Amino acid sequence: MTSELGQLDQRHLWHPFTPMLEWSREDPLVISRGDGCYLIDEDGRRYLDGVSSLWVNVHGHNHPAINQAIRDQLDQLAHSTLLGLTHPTAIELARRLVEIAPDGLTRVFYSDSGSTAVEIALKQAFQYWSLRGEPRRQHFVHLAHAYHGDTLGAVGVGGIELFHRIFGPLIVAGIPAPSPVTYPDPERRGPEALRDRALTDMDSILSERGGEIAAVVMEPLVQGAAGMIMHPPGFLKGVETLCRKHGVLLIVDEVATGFGRTGTMFACEQEDVHPDLLCLAKGITGGYLPLAATLAREEIYEAFLAERIEGKTFFHGHTYTGNPLACAAALASLDLFGTDLLPQVRQRAEQLGALATEHLGDLPVVGDIRQRGLMFGIELVADRATGRPFPVEHFKGNAVCRAARKHGVILRPLGDVIVWMPPLVLSSTDAELLVSATRSAILETCSTASAS
Ligand SMILES: Cc1ncc(COP(=O)(O)O)c(C=O)c1O
Repeated sequence: MTSELGQLDQRHLWHPFTPMLEWSREDPLVISRGDGCYLIDEDGRRYLDGVSSLWVNVHGHNHPAINQAIRDQLDQLAHSTLLGLTHPTAIELARRLVEIAPDGLTRVFYSDSGSTAVEIALKQAFQYWSLRGEPRRQHFVHLAHAYHGDTLGAVGVGGIELFHRIFGPLIVAGIPAPSPVTYPDPERRGPEALRDRALTDMDSILSERGGEIAAVVMEPLVQGAAGMIMHPPGFLKGVETLCRKHGVLLIVDEVATGFGRTGTMFACEQEDVHPDLLCLAKGITGGYLPLAATLAREEIYEAFLAERIEGKTFFHGHTYTGNPLACAAALASLDLFGTDLLPQVRQRAEQLGALATEHLGDLPVVGDIRQRGLMFGIELVADRATGRPFPVEHFKGNAVCRAARKHGVILRPLGDVIVWMPPLVLSSTDAELLVSATRSAILETCSTASAS
């Protein structure tokens, strides 16, 4: 029975990434409160937030320290522009971000979403080369299956057929380079060979087109929206080495991986990688408010330094750029990391990984369980031996996630890959619930009979 609010929603809202005809036939789940790792619906039912409200929540919902920081900021200043003015919270956050980011990144350009963070990095790289007297460097290399957001520049360096194909005529297309996808691996070549092959191909592209390329843009360690593709160790470092060899910039998009998700503050740390431009968003505010940051090396910033009349300014900005409330939430979130949270994340990741193997690994429709820190992809397949997928029209991933709600867990799939990306503060008991609800949901929706 659709609630009054649900009906109003169906009358007026248009939801992102949502087939609206289907939505209009179902009962929308109306979430009215958050409490730690749980979301609470309008009838008071509690659900574990298994995907951190689209990969953003870090310390849980309704966290007293973040709530208080926003209230304190609200009493001072809700918004003032960074176009021609500045404010203390944006300044302090920039200092803190530079402190924790990979060495060499010294300048912070704020915006409001992951897409804009990427858009800004692309434009900064493009203009940098023009200012440096190399205007032919206009193109970007991106990985196959990449996802960097939905604005047109970000779509141009994206590679997800289903999302991006329709907009082809609208975009300036980037140059795709193979991604080391390790599942399925029908020829059993293994992650290292797949990594080396992808690096060789990237090397060839950069050799052939080097003089036209502004930057390589990539998600580090994990290609999230592609279905949680986990890169083999050494791939990220390998790409950095190739960028240095060919003299092109490296843009790293840590929108999804940043702020602890992979077990370190930034994924780059795990391979000692130092990008020229770094894109941050999602978890930056602990998952509270829209904020993003593009961090740049000093030499990139310096290329833009000139008298006003020279027109070298970076002509880009969004109205709510560096909003003080969002910056205050981000500062409170960084404080909450302290020294304990990241070791705790690594411990929880180990526990959850072991539980996943134990309780899902035996299911005939689970083809692959892949993990980096607290980012998981559980791939459902019709035939485990060959990795043959279910027919697309079965929408198995969606069915499993819908069924998980009955067991008290909110999930959202990527095709037939079930994603787990819980808040970093997930408790041991909550980890068990995540696993048991997923197992029950898979058993209910993917019987062996339905696998063919
Ligand atoms: C790696 C990556 N980059 C960029 C984005 C886009 O972020 P937003 O949705 O905030 O624009 C996403 C979103 O999922 C992402 O995963």
